[in-house]
Amino acid sequence: MAALLPRPASVPLARPPAEAELAVDIQNLFGRYRRAERDSIEDVSLVVRKGALLGLLGPNGAGKTTLLSMLCALMRPRSGSITVHGLRFAEAPDAYKDLIGLAPQSLALYPRLTARENLEAFGRLSGLSGARLRERVAFGLEFAGLQDLAHRRVETYSGGQQRRLNLATTLLPDPPVLVLDEPTVGIDPQSRHAIHENLRALNRAGKTIIYTSHYLDEVEQLCDEIAVLDGGRLIAQGALGALLARFTGNRIELRFDPRTVAAAADILRTMAGVEDVALRSPLLTLVTDDPYRRLPAILKMLAHVHIRPLSVAVGARDLEQAFLALTGTQLRDGS
Ligand SMILES: Nc1ncnc2c1ncn2[C@@H]1O[C@H](COP(=O)(O)OP(=O)(O)OP(=O)(O)O)[C@@H](O)[C@H]1O
Ligand SMILES: [Mg+2]
Repeated sequence: MAALLPRPASVPLARPPAEAELAVDIQNLFGRYRRAERDSIEDVSLVVRKGALLGLLGPNGAGKTTLLSMLCALMRPRSGSITVHGLRFAEAPDAYKDLIGLAPQSLALYPRLTARENLEAFGRLSGLSGARLRERVAFGLEFAGLQDLAHRRVETYSGGQQRRLNLATTLLPDPPVLVLDEPTVGIDPQSRHAIHENLRALNRAGKTIIYTSHYLDEVEQLCDEIAVLDGGRLIAQGALGALLARFTGNRIELRFDPRTVAAAADILRTMAGVEDVALRSPLLTLVTDDPYRRLPAILKMLAHVHIRPLSVAVGARDLEQAFLALTGTQLRDGS
């Protein structure tokens, strides 16, 4: 299957957004760690609309955390530009930082403090005080589902509870752009579901969310757009549906009895509208100009010679397959 899939350029957004609609605008970004011999981010250009829920994917070491570190002004780009809501970090560092909330991949919490004390400390660090601080701390505890444990030291929490609190600290100053680096690692399915519901609600209320994850199924359920990094380069960006369609939209996969598959391939190679036939017994993968329009004729032709496929699938199964086609790497086991 992978051999049939084209190696893509980037998948374009349906309509290029106007500048005022952009939450994040990254252009020709390069980033290199000190003493490293090569760039960890190489010529990445990425735009994120206001109100988008973008899934940032890529195998281990692809550069996701590095890209987010530069976006959050924790690392200086080697070259290129980043603007958030039209603002560059160098123009107004404090205002720039106020626009973004980062939940880092490695937990950033004070283990000896309670959840409430952690939220209060992070809230103060971001300039909150008085009634507003109390209100945001209460929101954070509710978001993390930790009201009942609010007075226990964080070092006594489970990994999942710490992750949820880590995420809640990001939300305290109520920034318009949330950058979440693998926020659901080590979290059980119930907590993950609760976090997703909360993030969807925040997104509906207008927050822009950039979300990295190794769980393709969750990105598929949660995000409306994805960007894929591989080896420091952005290899695809676009609406999830468009990206899947690009890799899967014109394919039909048929499974046969192995004794009939070669004969089926010979017949289908002669059909109008069938552009390519790949045989990997017992599977045949057809590339067609219009799979739904061609399918009835394909089945009729096969029935005519008494060959019946055991199963028929139009399009690829899921994002995992598109990802494999893009990167040639397993998401969880990449280098
Ligand atoms: N502090 C550092 N110093 C030198 N090189 C680094 C540093 N941090 C990351 N790198 C390198 O930069 C590249 C990108 O790493 P990065 O952590 O951004 O990947 P990632 O996509 O976030 O991976 P993961 O899915 O494992 O979190 C890797 O080759 C990594 O080895
Ligand atoms: Mg990372």
